[in-house]
Amino acid sequence: MNKAKRVIGAEHVEAVRRSGKVRLEVMAGDIVTDMARETAERLGIQLVDGPLERPAPKQVDGGAAMARGLYRRAPRWIAPRHAEARSARRLAKLGLIGAGGVGANIAHLAANGDMAAEIALVDIMPGMAEAVALDLNHASGITGTAAKAVGGMDLSLIAGSDVVVVTAGRPRTPGMSRADLIGVNTRVIQQAAEALKAFAPNAVVIVVTNPLDEMTVEMLRATGFPRERVLGMAGTLDSSRFRNALAQAAGVTPADVEAITLGSHGDEMAPIVSRARIKGRPLDVYLSKEQIDACVKDAVTGGGQVVALRKTGSATLAPAHASIELIDHIRGARAGAVPVSVMLEGEYGISGVVLGVPCHLGATGVLEVEELKLSPEETEALKRAADAIAGRLGLKG
Ligand code: NAI
Ligand code: 2OP
Repeated sequence: MNKAKRVIGAEHVEAVRRSGKVRLEVMAGDIVTDMARETAERLGIQLVDGPLERPAPKQVDGGAAMARGLYRRAPRWIAPRHAEARSARRLAKLGLIGAGGVGANIAHLAANGDMAAEIALVDIMPGMAEAVALDLNHASGITGTAAKAVGGMDLSLIAGSDVVVVTAGRPRTPGMSRADLIGVNTRVIQQAAEALKAFAPNAVVIVVTNPLDEMTVEMLRATGFPRERVLGMAGTLDSSRFRNALAQAAGVTPADVEAITLGSHGDEMAPIVSRARIKGRPLDVYLSKEQIDACVKDAVTGGGQVVALRKTGSATLAPAHASIELIDHIRGARAGAVPVSVMLEGEYGISGVVLGVPCHLGATGVLEVEELKLSPEETEALKRAADAIAGRLGLKG
């Protein structure tokens, strides 16, 4: 077959990455531009000589063909698998500032998943980080993980980390809003920022400490790191809560649900109903408007529900998984866009505010902010969230 020769440019590589794939097939005679090669290198996309081997089409008899046609008219839903990349990188070192409920659980998941050669935990509370590290190392005789945990009070322990997750600070207790934590946790973020500048100046930083949007802004300001390397974790958690609520309401498993939340990690959260799907179909196929509204409310209040039950702190397990999801995208174990709080520079018509938006991540942090087509109400909700955060930070009059 005489296929037309192509000029493969950076935009083709970008398109492959956006589709969640990790390989771009280059056929004999295709011209690959220098920019395309550079972009592929930066995004971790492999340029492979084609044609790639493809499974031969199955030979079927007439009866089977008819059955297949009928099957197509009444398809059985198959839950999509996470877009998995094949080139997962084991981190040299994962730093964790804060070894409390969320920090310790992140360390546990990272050690179990053998995601880093070394896991360094730091906590201001004497004995806390050492205890978590020792406890994790004690488990390695059973899990067989090669990850080595170290812990202490000295922030220099994070030296050389390629990713640092900051959970240090106070959590909410009943009656407190996330914003009530601004004063005390700003000082904690400033200390962490000094340590990051001194000991891990090239790290990708994931801020978890609340109030999330404000603390991410403070981390950016205090470190002076580029926006690509300062990410706030909230969207992965809030999206998981939203998917769980939708799955429960529709009586399906969460794997059947695709849904994300954007905006702020707080009352101005924006669960994106227009793009949410249950078994690949719009929500209103399965749920009434009242049910959908209840699921949105459930996602927005999910964190508060755990606080009300626990009384002495906030959620730890789902937040740890949600942080690990970001680490997995950074280390190339997962592909596709994931909601992250980043400083916006004109995306969605918003600038100068940290907001949760879908991003493609890689070893250097944010590779690209994906601009989804949203409904006018959802775009408005994002703008309201940006204004509310800017107002809290005194950035707008
Ligand atoms: P926690 O109280 O169990 O742990 C926080 C740890 O930080 C404590 O061990 C404390 O000793 C330590 N710490 C305080 N100041 C420090 C400093 N200057 N240097 C080093 N360590 C310091 O709290 P938890 O449950 O782990 O939550 C941590 C933070 O994450 C809270 O602010 C919480 O509100 C926030 N959070 C945010 C979520 C999100 O979606 N962004 C989800 C869950 C929690
Ligand atoms: C949460 O959403 C408290 O922000 C924390 O669970």
